This record gives sequence, C-alpha cells and structure tokens, in this order.
Amino acid sequence: MANVIVIGAQWGDEGKGKITDLLSRSADVVVRYQGGVNAGHTVVVRDRTFKLHLIPSGILYPNTECIIGSGTVIDPQVLIEEIDRIEALGISSENLYISQTAHVTMPYHRLIDQASEEKRGKHKIGTTKRGIGPTYADKSERAGIRVIDLLDKEGLPDLMTRSVKAKNEVLEKLYGLEPLKAEDVIEQYFQYADRLRSHIVDSSLKIDDAVRSRKNILFEGAQGTLLDLDHGTYPYVTSSNPISGGACVGAGVGPTIIDRVIGVAKAYTTRVGEGPFPTELHDEIGTLLGDRGAEFGTTTGRRRRCGWFDAVIGRYAVRINGLDCLAITKLDVLDSLEEIKVCVAYDADGEKCNHLPNSTAQFAKCRPIYETLPGWKQSTEECRALEDLPKEALDYLKFLAELMEVPIAIVSLGASRDQTIIVEDPIHGPKRALLQPIANNS
Ligand code: IMP
Repeated sequence: MANVIVIGAQWGDEGKGKITDLLSRSADVVVRYQGGVNAGHTVVVRDRTFKLHLIPSGILYPNTECIIGSGTVIDPQVLIEEIDRIEALGISSENLYISQTAHVTMPYHRLIDQASEEKRGKHKIGTTKRGIGPTYADKSERAGIRVIDLLDKEGLPDLMTRSVKAKNEVLEKLYGLEPLKAEDVIEQYFQYADRLRSHIVDSSLKIDDAVRSRKNILFEGAQGTLLDLDHGTYPYVTSSNPISGGACVGAGVGPTIIDRVIGVAKAYTTRVGEGPFPTELHDEIGTLLGDRGAEFGTTTGRRRRCGWFDAVIGRYAVRINGLDCLAITKLDVLDSLEEIKVCVAYDADGEKCNHLPNSTAQFAKCRPIYETLPGWKQSTEECRALEDLPKEALDYLKFLAELMEVPIAIVSLGASRDQTIIVEDPIHGPKRALLQPIANNS
C-alpha cells in the first residue's frame, strides 16, 4: 500500500491532470482535497479529451473511487454538468463521492467574486470569477452552507433565506447589483441536492475505511504551491491550500498515513492572473511557449503568461511540500529552441537572492539570474525512455534535478498517456533519499 499526494510545484496548470491520471492506475481511491471549479484539468485518452473541474481524473478508471473532499468548495451546477458530460461519454459516475462537509458555492458568491474584482481595478487578483474566494471567506466567517445542509429539507429554507438576505445587502449596497430572490435559490438548490444525493457521503469515514483496508490512496491537489493561501505569492493566490499539508486538512486524514509526495512542474513556467513573475517572457519565445504548449486556461480560456523555468520557485516547492520526487511535464514544448535558460537565483536590488522573498514588493523587484543551456532542436515526442532523449534534453533534466535536489521520476512529452517516460515508479519504487538528483542514477 502507498498513500501519495500529488501537488503542483509552480503556479498551477503544471499538467497534474495527466500525471494523476497515470498514477490513478495504481490507486484504489483518488481524493481531491481543496479548491473548486477554479481548477481545470485536461486528460487525453486516445483520441478523446476530457476537461474536468471538480471530478478527479481517477473517474476514467472504472474501479477507482473518487472523493471530492471536505476541503473543497462545490458549485453544484457545474458539478452536475460535469457528471452529465462524462456520462454522455459512457463513463459511469457511480464511484463519485462528495463530502458532506465541503462548502457550497452559491450564486451570490459568483456575483461577489466578479464585482469585487472589478472594484479592485488595477489591483485586481485576476481570479477565475467562479466564486471561490467568497465561498471560502464565508466558510471562515462561519456563514457558509455545507453540502450536508442541502439534504436538510427542513433547515435549508431558513438557512438560505438568511444567507441570501445578508448577501443581498452586499450586492445592492456595495456593488449596486440586483438582489437575488431567496425562493428561487432555495428551489434551485433543492433540485441540485436531489440530483447529487446518491453521491454525498461522510468522506472522512470513507477515506478511513480505505486506509484500514490498506488501499492505495492518491490525494490530488488543484492549483499549485505558489497559489497557496498561506505559502504562495500573497495576495495573488487562491483561497485554499494546494500544498501537500493541505491534503491532510482537506481530506481529514493524519500526516502519518502519507507515504510520498510527488510534485509536478512544467519544463518552463506559466502563470495566469496578476502578480510578479520574474522569468516571464514578453518576446517571441514567450509566444512560442504559449502556442506550442497550448497555454490557455481550461477554466477561463485566458492566455497564460509564459517564461523560463524558475529553480528558486522549484526549490521553494520542494521545501514547502517535502517533495520526494518530481514529474516534469511538457519537455517537448522546448524542442525547437536554440538555447534554454533556467533561473538559478534572483538579483534583488543588486543582491543575490536564493530564496523566494515573502514581500510582494521585493518579489516584484527580483530579476532572474540565468544559466543558459544548449537546446536539442529535435522532437522528443516519440521518446519513451531516458536513453531515447537527445543528450541536451537529458542534461537539461539533470540540471533541474540538481538545482532542486530531488529526483525526477516521470517526464512527460505530450498530452497522451503514452507520451511519458517513467524513470522510476514514483509510488512503488524504492523511496530515495531526498538529496539524490537524477544525475546520480542515469
Ligand atoms: P481564484 O482561485 O479564482 O480565486 O483565483 C485566484 C488566483 O488563482 C488567480 O490568479 C487565478 O488565475 C489563479 N488560479 C485559480 N485556479 C487556478 C488554476 O487551476 N490554475 C492556475 N491558476 C489558477
């Protein structure tokens, strides 16, 4: 048995969907532990593309149980649409479970997210406008509505009437928007509850059953380390904890059951939304990375900002998440480049800085210090083993592993399942010492 956490080691969109899909093959249970429909993952199976927001990618395996955990926030309308979509493709949702204690995104959350972003003007965060921040804010405020409340036929009308009344004041007085009608919202959410009822469970008990039965559990993080509310590039972050520590809180398990933590990072860097991004490229290479990498948000369709790999961020992700190993994705996107740069440290006002600064203002001043490596200028898409890679591509991977001081267990060279090099089985292979880079093993 192995219980594994998979997290994003950058600003999200690292290709976790493909990696969790691959690892789900060895998992009996997949648990999504935070975030909501702000996340989006794309999984390509043969010629079919699956775009999922809330449902873990493990759903594509008929015997894998998928749990949307307590630390997530659930927009029932989007979740129902997603269930309908996968069922239309012939995939059963029978093994999908939703935590009773997850919080529910309401129509006023979406409206407030959109209106508050507009009000922030040039100080906007660049949210996905899916109501995620306001849903988590209500949770902290102890004013949220939980999935279990949707099943309470007697209590729900009063709870929702009070919530809608309170939020109508915000909508009308603060943002000049139309108020919502409580009866309409109640009616709509009762319908959602009827549709989702058979999936709703005590997720902590369900996960505990799996632990006791010594099943393999995969904890799937959404977004990425630098979007973490506590440890990301605040305030340009999401409102949950995508880091590995968030898995215990969001799933309701103790840290002693976790065996491994796998980080997923792109071979370059992307970011959506606002905030400093030291290695961002505004030139034709940035455009090339965006075009070749199809860097458009799964949820919002926004073009992602692109730049070189940032090892300062990589080392930070290793530290904050306690990474055992890395999966490097989209190496093939770099195939045509003459040379490739990697940020090894920052220059902050003339001082060399090896660590991510906590101050947003200081981070904004950081300029990347690059090392330049030769490109390989040939396709890697058909490579299926490290030995198939051009020497320069292998050297690039070794360089990243050395900089981050963790082994690389998986290399991804395209969207489909087979475009992958498994350097070492990250779940069942021997657990290696943290400081052993791939260079010592190849
Ligand atoms: P929110 O999560 O919608 O509140 O957005 C907060 C920040 O997180 C914004 O910069 C978003 O672009 C970013 N964000 C949220 N979800 C994702 C994701 O799945 N991938 C990348 N960025 C995301």
